[in-house]
Amino acid sequence: MRTTLKIVLPLIVSVASVSLLFAGYQVRNERRILRNDLDRRAEILADSLQESVERLLERGQEKNLQRLVERYGQRERIKGIAIYDAAGHALAITPGLGPALPLHPTAIIKATHENKGVSEFLPPEETSSTQTSDAVPVHVYALPLHRNDEVAGALVLIHDISYIEMQLTRTLRDALLTALIQTLLISGLALVMVRWTFTGPLTRTAKWLRTLRTGQPNPPPAFVQGEILEQLHHEVTHLARDLHSARAAAEVEARLRDSNASLWTAERLRVSLRDRLQDQPLFVVSNREPYMHVYDGREKTIKMIVPASGVVTAIEPVLLACNGTWVANGSGSADREVADAHDRLRVPPDHPSYTLRRVWLTGEETKGYYDGFSNEGLWPLCHTAHTRPIFRPEDWLQYQRINQRFADVVRQEMAEVDSPIVLVQDYHLALVPRMVKDVRPDARVAIFWHIPWPNAEVFGICPWQRELIEGLLGADLIGFHIQTHCNNFLETVDRALEALTEWDRFAVSRQGHVTRVRPYPISVAFSENSLPDHDLVNINGLRAALLDDTGIEATHMGVGVDRIDYTKGILERFRALERFLELNPAYQQRFTFVQIGAPSRTDIERYRNFLDEVSSEADRINARLQTSRWKPIVFRKKHHSHEEISRFYKAASLCMVTSLHDGMNLVAKEFVASREDERGVLILSTFAGASQELSDALLVNPYDIAQVARAIHRALEMPEDEQAERMQRMRHVVRQHNVYRWAAHLLSDLTEIRIELAERAEA
Ligand code: G6P
Repeated sequence: MRTTLKIVLPLIVSVASVSLLFAGYQVRNERRILRNDLDRRAEILADSLQESVERLLERGQEKNLQRLVERYGQRERIKGIAIYDAAGHALAITPGLGPALPLHPTAIIKATHENKGVSEFLPPEETSSTQTSDAVPVHVYALPLHRNDEVAGALVLIHDISYIEMQLTRTLRDALLTALIQTLLISGLALVMVRWTFTGPLTRTAKWLRTLRTGQPNPPPAFVQGEILEQLHHEVTHLARDLHSARAAAEVEARLRDSNASLWTAERLRVSLRDRLQDQPLFVVSNREPYMHVYDGREKTIKMIVPASGVVTAIEPVLLACNGTWVANGSGSADREVADAHDRLRVPPDHPSYTLRRVWLTGEETKGYYDGFSNEGLWPLCHTAHTRPIFRPEDWLQYQRINQRFADVVRQEMAEVDSPIVLVQDYHLALVPRMVKDVRPDARVAIFWHIPWPNAEVFGICPWQRELIEGLLGADLIGFHIQTHCNNFLETVDRALEALTEWDRFAVSRQGHVTRVRPYPISVAFSENSLPDHDLVNINGLRAALLDDTGIEATHMGVGVDRIDYTKGILERFRALERFLELNPAYQQRFTFVQIGAPSRTDIERYRNFLDEVSSEADRINARLQTSRWKPIVFRKKHHSHEEISRFYKAASLCMVTSLHDGMNLVAKEFVASREDERGVLILSTFAGASQELSDALLVNPYDIAQVARAIHRALEMPEDEQAERMQRMRHVVRQHNVYRWAAHLLSDLTEIRIELAERAEA
């Protein structure tokens, strides 16, 4: 209240002052008008009497003069009339007026001297020689009288002006009353407005912050729209989130110290990398960027998107934990607009922590390097999903050129850094390690291959397998998700090159350079005690709300989250769902499966066709089984944010990851990480790398439709105890094997290589 008053008080004072000034002005103005009016009336009356009085004066008829002053002296508001001779002696005077006249009527003297009518206002104290109590203020008007063109005296009209004062008092009272009402009204309104839009929200925010400070989770208060407050709200919410994460991190650290466990956290990774890198920045290179800016709608406003990508999911937490630069292809339609003159920007937008350096490609370059060689060649080559790889010489040329461009940009970015650490990502950039090493032999370079590495015969299909392997062997360290991929890689090297493969220590020596090959199962950032999600309180309500959005009524919901890619086994999944509903009709109208599918690589015909196939398959099954308020499959064919996806994970009874072949698959781990309630069942393909760690999922062969249908049934029927036990064990694995551990192991192995090299040089 005191703050509100402090804001409103100056307003009250200002409004009151203005109203008072206005009242004063009104009174002054009215006084002037009334006095002018009286002046004019006195003048008219005096003029009308002048002739008669002068005639009587000339004839010396003093009695008639006396009669005249008595008669006119009774008129309204006239206090009296007097006639003086030139010497100032009264010749005739209204009875009773004498004592009321001033001792020295200056108006009379002035009028006779200046020979013109003169008026004056006299206060009560000047109107009576005796100062009686009935003294009143008067107006005196004196008009010179003439005889033979000489001034022979004066006619004096005296008006009682107490009515003017009364009138002015009334006006003043009314004006003051109006001023008071105005001030009260405006101040009252101001008070309400200030409390409603300003002090009220601030007080609520302060209360909220107080509860947060004491460690009690609480949702932020709702805010009234308004630029300043919205900004404040935004900043404070971030601050609160940071505070919460810092507190959660500290708690985890404390627990770790207590239990002597070795859980990796963002903070631990930061400290560890700071020691290892000695505050040097980390350089990450990938094709896909972590933030894309695209033009949205007709107004062409710029919207930011976090692409659906395993690489982005995994690398972002690492860069958030340690400062660095991420070099990636700027593929968003508005990407150039938001980058600076050096093609850089700080990200994430809400919490700038590292630099994103964008690399530009033309449409033709993208077609050859990304669509062609990477995604029509290497992608199907490495995934056993029975789509034939296509290798075109012109795509290969573009692939080499663009790899060189990425390598050049990395070289520029790390020009000032000694012995930089470079982490190259994935199959798009297989040649970059060698290209970087050629110009910066002091750099320590690792490449992580996010997709499977097939066996040697399969990889041998690629006409440029030698060049690709040579490019990769420029790295000091090559990481794969699982041991099988490492084995396949060494076998491929054995077959394709003259190199010494050291199976005992999993390394390849070639031309004096050693490349280590290791498995690092990638993961997600398992955030313990994430901000309380109120959706969690009522999973059933959340599920109903999510389904209701699509006009569905169901008691059980399953979810699948994928890029629409033929390796993900989406068609097989739909067929298994159909089979399950056929075998278990009781689940019809009770169980709905939501497939979140981000369209992907749609410039490639195979992907466009596959998108159509998935849509038609969903339509076919729905057409067979659906009712007016229910359908078996809801296909949400668009990009979804992490937050949207997380709501589906939390509300689902089961999550299906049925990849025909997958390096790791982070959806499986994200689902597990998001189930703080320790409920929900994961159905997981044995052909996804994640199945090696998540053995408590219901593991399936996605090609075996009947088996997957049985798994769906088992998941829906699974007792809560069993769900909890399985989920607890899987959460333990993901918590322990999180992305910080992945980065820590990869980067610590890489930094140790430098030490070994230095030792060798000394030796
Ligand atoms: C896989 C690849 C990633 C890629 C992601 C999304 O996970 O290993 O490198 O980022 O798919 O694919 P996209 O072609 O959209 O980048």
